Amino acid sequence: MNSFQFQNPTRIIFGAGTVNKLGEQLAEYGKRVLLVYGGGSIKANGLYDQVQQQLQQIGAVVHELSGVEPNPRVSTVRKGIELCREHSLDFILAVGGGSVLDAAKAVAVGVPYEGDVWDFLMHKAQITSALPLGTILTLSATGSEMNGNSVITNWEENLKKSFGSIHAYPKFSILDPTLTYSVPANQTVNGIVDTMSHVFEQYFSPTTNTPLQERLCESILQTVIENGEIALKQPDNYEARANLMLCGTYALNGGMISVGMQNDWSTHMIEHEISAIYDIAHAEGLSIVFPNWMKYVFNARLDRFVQFAVRVWQVDPAGKTDEEIALAGIQATRDYFTRIGAPATLGDLKINGKELDRMSKETVRFGSVGSFKSLDADAVHEILELSL
Ligand code: NZQ
Ligand code: ZN
Repeated sequence: MNSFQFQNPTRIIFGAGTVNKLGEQLAEYGKRVLLVYGGGSIKANGLYDQVQQQLQQIGAVVHELSGVEPNPRVSTVRKGIELCREHSLDFILAVGGGSVLDAAKAVAVGVPYEGDVWDFLMHKAQITSALPLGTILTLSATGSEMNGNSVITNWEENLKKSFGSIHAYPKFSILDPTLTYSVPANQTVNGIVDTMSHVFEQYFSPTTNTPLQERLCESILQTVIENGEIALKQPDNYEARANLMLCGTYALNGGMISVGMQNDWSTHMIEHEISAIYDIAHAEGLSIVFPNWMKYVFNARLDRFVQFAVRVWQVDPAGKTDEEIALAGIQATRDYFTRIGAPATLGDLKINGKELDRMSKETVRFGSVGSFKSLDADAVHEILELSL
Protein backbone atom coordinates (compact mmCIF):
# COMPACT_ATOMS: atom_id res chain seq x y z
CA MET A 1 0.00 0.00 0.00
CA ASN A 2 1.27 3.48 -0.86
CA SER A 3 1.20 6.49 1.47
CA PHE A 4 -1.79 8.72 0.95
CA GLN A 5 -3.87 11.71 2.05
CA PHE A 6 -7.65 11.61 1.85
CA GLN A 7 -10.13 14.42 2.33
CA ASN A 8 -13.77 14.56 1.34
CA PRO A 9 -15.64 17.67 2.48
CA THR A 10 -19.13 16.88 1.08
CA ARG A 11 -22.04 16.42 3.49
CA ILE A 12 -24.42 13.67 2.34
CA ILE A 13 -28.10 13.87 3.24
CA PHE A 14 -29.55 10.50 2.30
CA GLY A 15 -33.09 9.12 2.33
CA ALA A 16 -36.68 9.44 1.16
CA GLY A 17 -38.09 12.93 1.52
CA THR A 18 -34.75 14.66 2.11
CA VAL A 19 -35.48 17.37 -0.47
CA ASN A 20 -37.29 19.13 2.37
CA LYS A 21 -33.88 19.62 4.02
CA LEU A 22 -32.79 21.92 1.19
CA GLY A 23 -33.87 25.16 2.86
CA GLU A 24 -31.92 24.53 6.06
CA GLN A 25 -28.81 23.57 4.09
CA LEU A 26 -28.96 26.70 1.98
CA ALA A 27 -29.30 28.87 5.04
CA GLU A 28 -25.63 28.12 5.78
CA TYR A 29 -24.55 29.55 2.43
CA GLY A 30 -25.97 32.11 -0.01
CA LYS A 31 -29.49 33.11 -0.89
CA ARG A 32 -28.74 34.38 -4.38
CA VAL A 33 -28.98 31.10 -6.21
CA LEU A 34 -28.25 29.83 -9.71
CA LEU A 35 -30.54 26.82 -10.18
CA VAL A 36 -29.01 24.46 -12.76
CA TYR A 37 -31.00 21.63 -14.36
CA GLY A 38 -31.31 19.60 -17.54
CA GLY A 39 -33.84 18.99 -20.27
CA GLY A 40 -36.98 18.82 -18.16
CA SER A 41 -37.06 15.51 -16.26
CA ILE A 42 -37.28 17.45 -12.97
CA LYS A 43 -40.39 19.23 -14.20
CA ALA A 44 -42.02 15.98 -15.34
CA ASN A 45 -41.58 14.27 -11.97
CA GLY A 46 -42.54 17.21 -9.75
CA LEU A 47 -39.10 17.81 -8.25
CA TYR A 48 -38.82 21.30 -9.76
CA ASP A 49 -41.88 22.46 -7.82
CA GLN A 50 -40.58 20.98 -4.57
CA VAL A 51 -37.25 22.74 -5.02
CA GLN A 52 -38.90 26.07 -5.84
CA GLN A 53 -41.03 25.75 -2.73
CA GLN A 54 -37.94 25.28 -0.56
CA LEU A 55 -36.22 28.22 -2.22
CA GLN A 56 -39.25 30.47 -1.74
CA GLN A 57 -39.53 29.54 1.93
CA ILE A 58 -36.10 30.99 2.63
CA GLY A 59 -36.69 34.01 0.39
CA ALA A 60 -33.99 33.08 -2.10
CA VAL A 61 -33.39 35.09 -5.27
CA VAL A 62 -33.28 32.50 -8.04
CA HIS A 63 -31.97 32.60 -11.61
CA GLU A 64 -32.04 29.50 -13.80
CA LEU A 65 -29.63 27.75 -16.13
CA SER A 66 -31.80 25.10 -17.77
CA GLY A 67 -31.31 22.75 -20.70
CA VAL A 68 -27.94 21.36 -19.62
CA GLU A 69 -27.20 18.65 -22.18
CA PRO A 70 -26.20 15.05 -21.44
CA ASN A 71 -22.46 15.41 -22.17
CA PRO A 72 -22.67 19.03 -20.98
CA ARG A 73 -21.19 21.68 -23.21
CA VAL A 74 -18.77 24.45 -22.37
CA SER A 75 -21.03 26.92 -24.23
CA THR A 76 -23.75 26.19 -21.63
CA VAL A 77 -21.27 26.53 -18.79
CA ARG A 78 -20.23 29.96 -20.10
CA LYS A 79 -23.89 31.06 -20.03
CA GLY A 80 -24.10 30.03 -16.38
CA ILE A 81 -20.95 31.97 -15.53
CA GLU A 82 -22.42 35.07 -17.19
CA LEU A 83 -25.68 34.72 -15.23
CA CYS A 84 -23.79 34.49 -11.93
CA ARG A 85 -21.73 37.57 -12.72
CA GLU A 86 -24.63 39.62 -14.07
CA HIS A 87 -26.86 38.95 -11.05
CA SER A 88 -24.14 38.68 -8.36
CA LEU A 89 -25.20 35.14 -7.45
CA ASP A 90 -23.41 33.49 -4.55
CA PHE A 91 -24.59 29.87 -4.56
CA ILE A 92 -25.09 27.21 -7.22
CA LEU A 93 -27.73 24.52 -6.85
CA ALA A 94 -27.55 21.62 -9.31
CA VAL A 95 -30.63 19.38 -9.63
CA GLY A 96 -30.17 16.43 -11.97
CA GLY A 97 -27.78 13.71 -13.10
CA GLY A 98 -24.02 13.83 -13.54
CA SER A 99 -24.20 16.16 -16.54
CA VAL A 100 -26.09 18.82 -14.61
CA LEU A 101 -23.78 18.46 -11.61
CA ASP A 102 -20.65 18.64 -13.77
CA ALA A 103 -21.88 21.74 -15.60
CA ALA A 104 -22.68 23.38 -12.25
CA LYS A 105 -19.18 22.63 -10.96
CA ALA A 106 -17.63 24.18 -14.05
CA VAL A 107 -19.77 27.28 -13.52
CA ALA A 108 -18.70 27.35 -9.87
CA VAL A 109 -14.98 27.34 -10.67
CA GLY A 110 -15.40 29.59 -13.71
CA VAL A 111 -17.08 32.55 -11.97
CA PRO A 112 -14.07 33.75 -9.94
CA TYR A 113 -11.60 33.05 -12.79
CA GLU A 114 -10.69 35.92 -15.11
CA GLY A 115 -9.87 33.75 -18.14
CA ASP A 116 -12.06 31.27 -20.06
CA VAL A 117 -13.25 28.25 -18.05
CA TRP A 118 -12.08 25.90 -20.85
CA ASP A 119 -8.49 26.65 -19.70
CA PHE A 120 -9.11 24.39 -16.69
CA LEU A 121 -10.13 21.50 -18.94
CA MET A 122 -7.04 21.92 -21.12
CA HIS A 123 -4.69 22.03 -18.11
CA LYS A 124 -3.76 25.62 -18.96
CA ALA A 125 -4.75 27.08 -15.58
CA GLN A 126 -5.02 25.94 -11.97
CA ILE A 127 -8.33 26.13 -10.07
CA THR A 128 -7.84 28.19 -6.91
CA SER A 129 -11.40 29.04 -5.83
CA ALA A 130 -15.08 28.42 -6.58
CA LEU A 131 -18.56 29.56 -5.65
CA PRO A 132 -20.17 27.17 -3.13
CA LEU A 133 -22.27 24.45 -4.74
CA GLY A 134 -24.99 22.07 -3.52
CA THR A 135 -26.67 19.24 -5.40
CA ILE A 136 -29.83 17.18 -5.53
CA LEU A 137 -29.03 14.00 -7.42
CA THR A 138 -31.64 12.36 -9.67
CA LEU A 139 -29.59 9.61 -11.33
CA SER A 140 -27.08 7.25 -9.69
CA ALA A 141 -24.02 6.85 -11.86
CA THR A 142 -21.14 9.29 -11.86
CA GLY A 143 -20.37 9.95 -8.19
CA SER A 144 -20.27 13.65 -9.08
CA GLU A 145 -22.39 14.29 -5.99
CA MET A 146 -19.44 13.57 -3.71
CA ASN A 147 -16.35 14.29 -5.78
CA GLY A 148 -14.52 17.29 -7.24
CA ASN A 149 -14.60 16.12 -10.86
CA SER A 150 -16.31 17.61 -13.87
CA VAL A 151 -16.37 16.39 -17.47
CA ILE A 152 -17.19 18.98 -20.12
CA THR A 153 -17.52 18.82 -23.91
CA ASN A 154 -16.30 21.44 -26.35
CA TRP A 155 -18.55 20.55 -29.25
CA GLU A 156 -16.95 23.01 -31.70
CA GLU A 157 -13.59 21.24 -31.28
CA ASN A 158 -14.96 17.73 -30.60
CA LEU A 159 -13.11 17.54 -27.32
CA LYS A 160 -14.36 16.11 -24.02
CA LYS A 161 -12.06 16.81 -21.08
CA SER A 162 -12.18 16.73 -17.30
CA PHE A 163 -10.85 18.54 -14.26
CA GLY A 164 -10.69 17.54 -10.61
CA SER A 165 -10.35 20.04 -7.79
CA ILE A 166 -10.90 20.15 -4.03
CA HIS A 167 -12.67 23.47 -4.66
CA ALA A 168 -15.34 21.79 -6.79
CA TYR A 169 -16.65 19.33 -4.19
CA PRO A 170 -20.29 20.06 -3.38
CA LYS A 171 -20.86 21.52 0.09
CA PHE A 172 -23.81 19.16 0.42
CA SER A 173 -25.63 16.61 -1.71
CA ILE A 174 -29.19 15.49 -1.16
CA LEU A 175 -29.60 11.85 -2.17
CA ASP A 176 -33.20 10.69 -2.21
CA PRO A 177 -33.48 7.27 -3.89
CA THR A 178 -37.17 7.87 -4.72
CA LEU A 179 -36.04 10.61 -7.14
CA THR A 180 -34.47 7.88 -9.26
CA TYR A 181 -37.72 5.88 -9.68
CA SER A 182 -38.42 7.80 -12.90
CA VAL A 183 -34.99 7.10 -14.44
CA PRO A 184 -35.74 5.14 -17.65
CA ALA A 185 -34.36 1.62 -18.10
CA ASN A 186 -31.59 2.64 -20.51
CA GLN A 187 -30.28 5.32 -18.12
CA THR A 188 -30.52 2.88 -15.20
CA VAL A 189 -28.35 0.50 -17.22
CA ASN A 190 -25.92 3.35 -17.90
CA GLY A 191 -25.71 4.07 -14.19
CA ILE A 192 -24.96 0.43 -13.39
CA VAL A 193 -22.21 0.23 -16.01
CA ASP A 194 -20.67 3.57 -15.01
CA THR A 195 -20.59 2.69 -11.31
CA MET A 196 -18.98 -0.68 -12.01
CA SER A 197 -16.49 0.95 -14.36
CA HIS A 198 -15.42 3.43 -11.68
CA VAL A 199 -14.61 0.51 -9.43
CA PHE A 200 -12.72 -1.30 -12.21
CA GLU A 201 -10.52 1.76 -12.79
CA GLN A 202 -9.39 1.57 -9.16
CA TYR A 203 -9.45 -2.19 -8.54
CA PHE A 204 -7.27 -3.12 -11.50
CA SER A 205 -4.19 -1.53 -10.00
CA PRO A 206 -0.49 -2.35 -9.98
CA THR A 207 -0.34 -1.66 -6.22
CA THR A 208 -0.04 -4.71 -3.96
CA ASN A 209 -0.99 -5.44 -0.32
CA THR A 210 -4.34 -3.60 -0.34
CA PRO A 211 -6.76 -6.28 0.91
CA LEU A 212 -9.29 -3.91 2.49
CA GLN A 213 -9.50 -1.70 -0.60
CA GLU A 214 -9.88 -4.74 -2.85
CA ARG A 215 -12.74 -6.11 -0.76
CA LEU A 216 -14.44 -2.71 -0.68
CA CYS A 217 -14.28 -2.69 -4.48
CA GLU A 218 -15.56 -6.26 -4.74
CA SER A 219 -18.45 -5.59 -2.39
CA ILE A 220 -19.57 -2.55 -4.39
CA LEU A 221 -19.44 -4.60 -7.60
CA GLN A 222 -21.49 -7.42 -6.09
CA THR A 223 -24.03 -5.02 -4.62
CA VAL A 224 -24.48 -3.26 -7.96
CA ILE A 225 -24.75 -6.54 -9.88
CA GLU A 226 -27.50 -7.81 -7.56
CA ASN A 227 -29.45 -4.60 -7.12
CA GLY A 228 -29.11 -3.46 -10.73
CA GLU A 229 -31.17 -6.35 -11.97
CA ILE A 230 -33.81 -5.78 -9.28
CA ALA A 231 -34.12 -2.06 -10.11
CA LEU A 232 -34.51 -2.86 -13.79
CA LYS A 233 -37.41 -5.23 -13.05
CA GLN A 234 -38.95 -3.00 -10.36
CA PRO A 235 -38.02 0.65 -10.99
CA ASP A 236 -39.73 1.79 -7.77
CA ASN A 237 -38.09 -0.75 -5.47
CA TYR A 238 -36.75 1.56 -2.75
CA GLU A 239 -34.10 -0.78 -1.37
CA ALA A 240 -32.64 -1.53 -4.80
CA ARG A 241 -32.57 2.15 -5.80
CA ALA A 242 -31.07 3.11 -2.43
CA ASN A 243 -28.35 0.48 -2.72
CA LEU A 244 -27.49 1.58 -6.26
CA MET A 245 -27.34 5.20 -5.14
CA LEU A 246 -25.02 4.48 -2.25
CA CYS A 247 -22.80 2.36 -4.49
CA GLY A 248 -22.61 5.12 -7.11
CA THR A 249 -21.53 7.60 -4.46
CA TYR A 250 -18.97 5.30 -2.85
CA ALA A 251 -17.52 4.18 -6.17
CA LEU A 252 -16.10 7.59 -7.05
CA ASN A 253 -15.77 9.97 -4.15
CA GLY A 254 -12.19 11.07 -4.22
CA GLY A 255 -10.76 7.56 -4.04
CA MET A 256 -12.07 6.42 -0.66
CA ILE A 257 -12.21 2.80 -1.79
CA SER A 258 -8.73 2.89 -3.29
CA VAL A 259 -6.66 4.99 -0.89
CA GLY A 260 -3.00 4.10 -1.24
CA MET A 261 -3.56 2.48 -4.65
CA GLN A 262 -2.52 3.67 -8.06
CA ASN A 263 -5.61 4.09 -10.27
CA ASP A 264 -5.83 3.39 -14.00
CA TRP A 265 -8.59 5.49 -15.70
CA SER A 266 -7.44 4.74 -19.25
CA THR A 267 -10.81 3.30 -20.29
CA HIS A 268 -12.52 6.50 -19.17
CA MET A 269 -10.03 8.57 -21.16
CA ILE A 270 -10.67 6.44 -24.25
CA GLU A 271 -14.44 6.63 -23.80
CA HIS A 272 -14.46 10.41 -23.43
CA GLU A 273 -12.91 10.69 -26.89
CA ILE A 274 -15.65 8.49 -28.38
CA SER A 275 -18.36 10.65 -26.75
CA ALA A 276 -16.58 13.82 -27.91
CA ILE A 277 -17.10 12.86 -31.54
CA TYR A 278 -20.29 10.77 -31.50
CA ASP A 279 -22.13 12.26 -28.48
CA ILE A 280 -23.02 8.78 -27.16
CA ALA A 281 -23.89 8.20 -23.50
CA HIS A 282 -20.71 7.84 -21.43
CA ALA A 283 -21.67 4.40 -20.12
CA GLU A 284 -22.51 3.05 -23.57
CA GLY A 285 -18.89 3.66 -24.51
CA LEU A 286 -17.66 2.09 -21.27
CA SER A 287 -19.77 -1.02 -21.80
CA ILE A 288 -18.14 -1.49 -25.19
CA VAL A 289 -14.54 -0.64 -24.33
CA PHE A 290 -14.07 -2.03 -20.81
CA PRO A 291 -14.21 -5.77 -21.57
CA ASN A 292 -11.84 -5.18 -24.50
CA TRP A 293 -9.44 -3.20 -22.31
CA MET A 294 -9.57 -6.14 -19.89
CA LYS A 295 -8.67 -8.61 -22.63
CA TYR A 296 -5.82 -6.38 -23.74
CA VAL A 297 -4.24 -5.89 -20.29
CA PHE A 298 -5.11 -8.90 -18.13
CA ASN A 299 -1.71 -10.56 -18.46
CA ALA A 300 -0.04 -7.54 -16.84
CA ARG A 301 -1.35 -8.83 -13.51
CA LEU A 302 -3.05 -12.15 -13.89
CA ASP A 303 -3.55 -12.64 -10.12
CA ARG A 304 -5.87 -9.63 -9.88
CA PHE A 305 -8.03 -10.88 -12.74
CA VAL A 306 -8.17 -14.37 -11.22
CA GLN A 307 -9.30 -12.87 -7.91
CA PHE A 308 -11.91 -10.76 -9.75
CA ALA A 309 -13.30 -13.79 -11.56
CA VAL A 310 -13.52 -15.96 -8.47
CA ARG A 311 -14.71 -13.41 -5.91
CA VAL A 312 -16.99 -11.20 -7.99
CA TRP A 313 -18.34 -13.65 -10.58
CA GLN A 314 -17.93 -16.91 -8.61
CA VAL A 315 -16.02 -18.53 -11.47
CA ASP A 316 -15.18 -22.09 -10.40
CA PRO A 317 -11.38 -22.36 -10.64
CA ALA A 318 -11.34 -26.19 -10.59
CA GLY A 319 -9.51 -27.67 -13.56
CA LYS A 320 -8.77 -24.28 -15.15
CA THR A 321 -5.50 -22.47 -15.76
CA ASP A 322 -5.14 -18.95 -14.33
CA GLU A 323 -5.55 -17.55 -17.79
CA GLU A 324 -8.79 -19.48 -18.32
CA ILE A 325 -10.15 -18.26 -14.99
CA ALA A 326 -9.27 -14.64 -15.80
CA LEU A 327 -10.89 -14.87 -19.23
CA ALA A 328 -14.03 -16.41 -17.72
CA GLY A 329 -14.29 -13.38 -15.39
CA ILE A 330 -13.94 -10.99 -18.34
CA GLN A 331 -16.60 -12.92 -20.26
CA ALA A 332 -18.92 -12.82 -17.24
CA THR A 333 -18.55 -9.02 -17.20
CA ARG A 334 -19.39 -8.82 -20.90
CA ASP A 335 -22.36 -11.18 -20.44
CA TYR A 336 -23.77 -9.15 -17.54
CA PHE A 337 -23.53 -5.89 -19.48
CA THR A 338 -25.22 -7.55 -22.47
CA ARG A 339 -27.90 -9.17 -20.29
CA ILE A 340 -28.97 -5.83 -18.83
CA GLY A 341 -29.08 -4.28 -22.32
CA ALA A 342 -25.81 -2.35 -22.67
CA PRO A 343 -24.10 -2.29 -26.09
CA ALA A 344 -21.18 -4.61 -26.92
CA THR A 345 -19.59 -3.07 -30.03
CA LEU A 346 -19.16 0.35 -31.61
CA GLY A 347 -21.04 -1.15 -34.54
CA ASP A 348 -24.08 -1.53 -32.25
CA LEU A 349 -24.09 2.29 -32.11
CA LYS A 350 -23.43 2.62 -35.89
CA ILE A 351 -19.88 3.83 -35.28
CA ASN A 352 -17.25 2.66 -37.78
CA GLY A 353 -13.45 2.80 -37.72
CA LYS A 354 -13.13 6.16 -39.50
CA GLU A 355 -12.05 8.20 -36.47
CA LEU A 356 -9.92 5.64 -34.62
CA ASP A 357 -6.66 7.50 -35.32
CA ARG A 358 -8.00 10.78 -34.08
CA MET A 359 -9.52 9.25 -30.94
CA SER A 360 -6.32 7.33 -30.11
CA LYS A 361 -4.11 10.41 -30.46
CA GLU A 362 -6.47 12.63 -28.48
CA THR A 363 -6.65 10.08 -25.65
CA VAL A 364 -2.93 10.51 -25.05
CA ARG A 365 -2.81 14.30 -25.62
CA PHE A 366 -1.40 14.82 -22.10
CA GLY A 367 0.79 11.66 -22.19
CA SER A 368 0.36 7.88 -22.00
CA VAL A 369 -2.69 6.71 -20.05
CA GLY A 370 -3.19 3.93 -17.51
CA SER A 371 -1.14 2.46 -14.69
CA PHE A 372 -2.25 -1.19 -14.71
CA LYS A 373 -0.63 -1.19 -18.13
CA SER A 374 0.58 2.06 -19.65
CA LEU A 375 -1.05 2.70 -23.05
CA ASP A 376 0.29 4.82 -25.90
CA ALA A 377 -1.68 5.85 -28.99
CA ASP A 378 -1.00 2.53 -30.75
CA ALA A 379 -2.26 0.51 -27.79
CA VAL A 380 -5.40 2.64 -27.56
CA HIS A 381 -5.91 2.10 -31.28
CA GLU A 382 -5.72 -1.69 -30.80
CA ILE A 383 -8.31 -1.58 -27.99
CA LEU A 384 -10.61 0.52 -30.16
CA GLU A 385 -10.16 -1.93 -33.03
CA LEU A 386 -11.19 -4.78 -30.72
CA SER A 387 -14.29 -2.69 -29.92
CA LEU A 388 -15.52 -2.20 -33.51
O1 NZQ B 1 -31.72 16.37 -18.75
P1 NZQ B 1 -32.81 15.72 -18.02
O2 NZQ B 1 -34.16 16.10 -18.50
O3 NZQ B 1 -32.69 15.89 -16.53
O4 NZQ B 1 -32.75 14.14 -18.34
C1 NZQ B 1 -31.64 13.33 -18.00
C2 NZQ B 1 -30.80 12.97 -19.21
O5 NZQ B 1 -31.54 12.96 -20.38
C3 NZQ B 1 -32.16 11.98 -17.57
N1 NZQ B 1 -32.51 11.92 -16.14
C4 NZQ B 1 -31.75 12.25 -15.08
N2 NZQ B 1 -32.41 12.00 -13.93
C5 NZQ B 1 -33.62 11.54 -14.28
C6 NZQ B 1 -33.70 11.49 -15.69
N3 NZQ B 1 -34.81 11.08 -16.35
C7 NZQ B 1 -35.86 10.70 -15.61
N4 NZQ B 1 -35.86 10.70 -14.25
C8 NZQ B 1 -34.77 11.11 -13.56
N5 NZQ B 1 -34.78 11.09 -12.21
O6 NZQ B 1 -31.10 11.08 -17.82
C9 NZQ B 1 -30.37 11.54 -18.95
C10 NZQ B 1 -28.89 11.39 -18.69
O7 NZQ B 1 -28.47 12.24 -17.66
P2 NZQ B 1 -26.92 12.53 -17.41
O8 NZQ B 1 -26.82 13.51 -16.30
O9 NZQ B 1 -26.25 12.87 -18.68
O10 NZQ B 1 -26.38 11.10 -16.96
P3 NZQ B 1 -25.20 10.70 -16.01
O11 NZQ B 1 -25.54 10.92 -14.60
O12 NZQ B 1 -24.85 9.33 -16.41
O13 NZQ B 1 -24.00 11.71 -16.37
C11 NZQ B 1 -23.20 11.51 -17.49
C12 NZQ B 1 -22.12 12.57 -17.59
O14 NZQ B 1 -21.24 12.55 -16.46
C13 NZQ B 1 -19.86 12.42 -16.92
C14 NZQ B 1 -20.03 11.68 -18.21
O15 NZQ B 1 -18.89 11.78 -19.03
C15 NZQ B 1 -21.26 12.37 -18.81
O16 NZQ B 1 -20.89 13.60 -19.40
N6 NZQ B 1 -19.07 11.80 -15.86
C16 NZQ B 1 -18.82 12.52 -14.75
C17 NZQ B 1 -18.01 12.05 -13.75
C18 NZQ B 1 -17.73 12.83 -12.52
N7 NZQ B 1 -18.18 14.07 -12.43
O17 NZQ B 1 -17.08 12.35 -11.61
C19 NZQ B 1 -17.33 10.75 -13.85
C20 NZQ B 1 -17.94 9.86 -14.86
O18 NZQ B 1 -16.99 8.89 -15.19
C21 NZQ B 1 -18.40 10.54 -16.10
O19 NZQ B 1 -17.35 10.75 -17.01
ZN1 ZN C 1 -17.63 7.12 -15.59
